[in-house]
Order: sequence, then structure tokens, then C-alpha cells
Amino acid sequence: MGTDSGAARAPDALNCRVVPPARPVADLAEDARRGLLRRPRSLPPKYFYDERGSRLFDAICATPEYYPTRAEDALLARHAAAIIARARPGHILELGSGTSRKTRHLLAACEGGATAPTYWPFDVCEEMLLAAGAELARRYDWLTVRPLLGDYCAGLSHLPLPAGRRLFVFLGGTIGNFEPTQAAALLGELRALMGPGDFLLLGADRVKDPVVLHAAYNDAGGVTAEFNRNLLHVLNRELDADFAVDAYRHEALYRQDLRRIEMYLVSTRAQTVRLRALDACIGLAEGERILTEISCKFTPDALAALLAAAGLALDAHYAPPDGAFSLVLARPQ
Ligand code: SAH
Ligand code: TRP
Repeated sequence: MGTDSGAARAPDALNCRVVPPARPVADLAEDARRGLLRRPRSLPPKYFYDERGSRLFDAICATPEYYPTRAEDALLARHAAAIIARARPGHILELGSGTSRKTRHLLAACEGGATAPTYWPFDVCEEMLLAAGAELARRYDWLTVRPLLGDYCAGLSHLPLPAGRRLFVFLGGTIGNFEPTQAAALLGELRALMGPGDFLLLGADRVKDPVVLHAAYNDAGGVTAEFNRNLLHVLNRELDADFAVDAYRHEALYRQDLRRIEMYLVSTRAQTVRLRALDACIGLAEGERILTEISCKFTPDALAALLAAAGLALDAHYAPPDGAFSLVLARPQ
């Protein structure tokens, strides 16, 4: 954490193991070159999550409008014991683990079991991995935590694959942040790592009343807007750019035709931005948009089709009576 006073680390302090990319991936400069220098403008979502972005995302999860976190948390609280009894994991490996807060239900359900599992949180944000890992180690003294730092879009074949039964976990509806073909490809890569005794627990947000969806990505307190604009701070810092952050507004709209939220930063005036690290300037017209995130929503059929496309078979489907959110347990077909 940034508050480190220079004191020597405790010998048992957590360290992140870096997962090297399994295939070449663009860095921010390259992604910005591809996504910002031409139209339509867009950026991949992983750059939201610097330390401030991760804290803002955590704050989004606590807004009254953002129901997915509470819905998924309730499902995990209710079904963690059944999930653990079914998967009997020796290892729990979580993609995009963030604060790991909801995952505590799974860990708590392992407490006192025959074998204490090892937890492998895998995330792109090192500060969050360390903070979450330390908190878990404090709560569960029997738990071994092995944080993995890397990019799950860079291929999964360099992930450590410990022997024993594995439960892969991918929560938060983050699978919806991929285009459908990319989502199937990512789950297919996970599938390729899985042995016959392994399971995948996947959380996905559901198609519902557009008013509810719209509110979830447009909280009245403006936290989502701040999170979205944080991307511009990241660009200013990392690419020596001069985005006037206040001159962009957050826009999130639900596309019923595509069953997805689209999130944009909209330039509120005509402006020129210099990206010194790219040795480039871009001109944005008033009202011009940069696509920063999509969040696809699923029907049960669409979820089943996604699993099938990745070579996975549905084992259990947990959802609340209102169908707000789905948690699916899947295994290799
Ligand atoms: N699972 C948590 C957090 C979801 S937000 C929850 O349900 O609340 C998405 C998480 O994925 C963040 O923690 C972010 O840092 C991480 N993330 C985003 N893109 C990533 C990438 N390409 N590789 C690894 N982690 C990524
Ligand atoms: N996985 C989350 C989702 O799609 C990510 C998210 C929530 C998000 N709110 C956001 C991403 C706002 C960008 C902006 O629901």
C-alpha cells in the first residue's frame, strides 16, 4: 500500500506472484493509439482499476442503485455451503477478485472442512490484491492466500495450476464486460485448464427492467461517473496527457437491442487533447463519445448457450425469485 513507511516487511507479508502474459498484449500506449486516435473511440476496461479506480468501484458496489453486488452476495450467503459441498475444492482460483468480499462466503463454508483450500485471487490491481489478501489472512488463520497479479485477457495458460480439485470463480457480472465472442473465448480458455473434477462458479447479471439497469449505472451520488472519469486521470498520469477531466460527462445507457449497458465519456465541449507519450493530439467535438465499458445482461438461455460455447455444462443455477442475478456452477462437458 502507498502508506508503507519504509519499515521492513514482516517475513510472512503477502507478495503477489506475477502471471506473465501467455500471448503478447497491447499496453496502455498501444491500446490508446488504437482506441483513441481513430473513431469510434474506445478503451479497454482494465485501465479503470488503478488504486483509486478500485476504491471507486468498491464504492459503486455500496450505492443503493447498484443491486448486482447485493444480489450476488445474498446468493453466495445462501448457497456457499452447497457449492463447496459439490466442488470440494483444494484450490479456489478467482479471476478479477477485487476486494474478495463476496468470496468470503465460500471461504467461510470451507472452514472446518476436511482440507483447508488455498485461495488464489487473480487481479490486475496489486494494491487491491494485497489489501484483500491481508484482510483474508487476518480473518481466516487457516487459509493460505496466494495472490496472482496479471491480466486475464493475456491468456490463462501461465496461471499456476496446483494439483487437486479446483474451483474457478468469476463474479460480479464481469463476464458481461466482454463482447459475446470474447466471453466465450475466455471461458473456453478456462475450460482448457479444467480437469474432470474442477468447477467454475460464474456470476452474471440478468436482463431486466431497463429503468433498474439504467439506475444501477447512473447512481444519483455520482460515484459511477467519478469511476468512469478516473480513466482520464489514468491516461493523464500514464501517457502524460492533458485531458480536462471536468470537461467530460459520464453517460451510461441500456441498449435493449443488444441487451447491454454501454458506458461513455462524453466531451462537453470541442477540445484538443495532447497525449505526449504517444506524440499525438486528438480533437474531440462537443458531444463526441469515448466508449469505456459494455456490460452485457443475460437471459438463462443466453447463459446456457455461453457455457455450451465454451465446452462447459451447467451443474447448478442459483437465482433469487426476482431473477435479478444468476450464479451458475459449471463443469467441463
Ligand atoms: N469480483 C469483484 C470485482 C469486480 S470488478 C466483485 O464482484 O465485486 C472487476 C475486477 O476485475 C477488478 O478487481 C479489476 O481490478 C479486475 N480486472 C479488470 N480487468 C482485468 C484484467 N484484464 N485482468 C485481471 N483483472 C482484471
Ligand atoms: N462488472 C461490473 C458490471 O458490469 C463493472 C461495472 C459496474 C462498471 N459499474 C460500472 C464498469 C461502471 C464501468 C463503469 O456491472
